Amino acid sequence: MTPTIRDYIRTIPDFPHAGIMFRDVTTLFADARGFRMAVDQLLTPYAGIRFDKVVGLEARGFILGGAVAHQLSAGFVPARKKGKLPGAVISEAYQLEYGEAVIEIHDDALKPGERVLIVDDLLATGGTAEAGIRLCQRLGAEVIGCAFVIDLPDLGGRARLEGLGMAVHALTHFDGA
Ligand code: PRP
Ligand code: MG
Repeated sequence: MTPTIRDYIRTIPDFPHAGIMFRDVTTLFADARGFRMAVDQLLTPYAGIRFDKVVGLEARGFILGGAVAHQLSAGFVPARKKGKLPGAVISEAYQLEYGEAVIEIHDDALKPGERVLIVDDLLATGGTAEAGIRLCQRLGAEVIGCAFVIDLPDLGGRARLEGLGMAVHALTHFDGA
């Protein structure tokens, strides 16, 4: 049988804390067929839609987002963790699944009216993605979609983003936290 996206994702129990089932996408990225399948499937809903920029969320969103941007012939904008970008930035704080964090983008990375696709590996609580959406919107860009490899619906991220009016695309989901 042809493997699916799920088959390439490795689950590591009790990382980074006891009781957490860590969904490891390095095994997906490392497999030539798996990585191509992931990038192709991330793009599936957007056939014929024009994007100016892909915003990738640090760090695993960079790997997917760069490939997706190339395929869309769009620019790539990194949303980086605090203190990593050299130019003037705007920042958003958010609650992470384990702790609190800040992400930033350059304040000239997006122009008003630009059409954006946000890409990350995993949607859990949606805090990271919502912060990314806010950054884009503060620069006047329009977030057309948010695409993830994995959705953990029990953590509420999909409902949270859909509550903001966002179209969420995920390739697979895992039940339980
Ligand atoms: C993980 C994952 C998502 C985010 C999802 O990243 O890659 O970006 O958490 O969680 P949320 O929906 O609850 O916000 P993490 O911050 O662990 O860091 P990394 O991608 O840099 O490894
Ligand atoms: Mg991440």
